[in-house]
Amino acid sequence: MQPTKVLTVCLGNICRSPMAEGILQHAAGSRGIHLQLDSAGTGGWHAGEAPDKRAQDYMKRQGIDISALRARQFRREDLDTFDHILVMDRDNLRNVLSLCDTEAQKAKVRLMLTYWEQSPSDEVPDPYYGGEEGFALVYNWVWNAAQAFLNTIEADER
Ligand code: 4NP
Repeated sequence: MQPTKVLTVCLGNICRSPMAEGILQHAAGSRGIHLQLDSAGTGGWHAGEAPDKRAQDYMKRQGIDISALRARQFRREDLDTFDHILVMDRDNLRNVLSLCDTEAQKAKVRLMLTYWEQSPSDEVPDPYYGGEEGFALVYNWVWNAAQAFLNTIEADER
């Protein structure tokens, strides 16, 4: 079976979406689920850069190394390449949906936190201008959403 292809999307692709990519990679691996993952930003200012040092450091303390990831901008082809496009906030959702030409493309795009039924919010707050607690919150909320998302992937594969 082909691996399910999943793209995580935020604004800069240096904080939330690379953290989400790393968390999904790790969580899928420990559950024996084979995903093909990437992440992207709706903005291109940080293209080519490694994840924000604070995101790298927080993830490393959780045992997940995201230092090799490099930022890139979201592109129209992603709407065809990927099976699931998991966005972090409503701005990302609006921007990605605005590039969709078909209902099939739109159906792939979803706020990641909406997979986690008990989520306190449907948006992952941007941690870029804040302190470490913002990165901890991203990690915790995205980890929960990742587990719930993987439940649906497992159910689909059965
Ligand atoms: P991200 O955070 O969308 O979670 O990667 C941001 C990173 C950089 C900027 C904004 C958000 N920025 O404006 O440079």
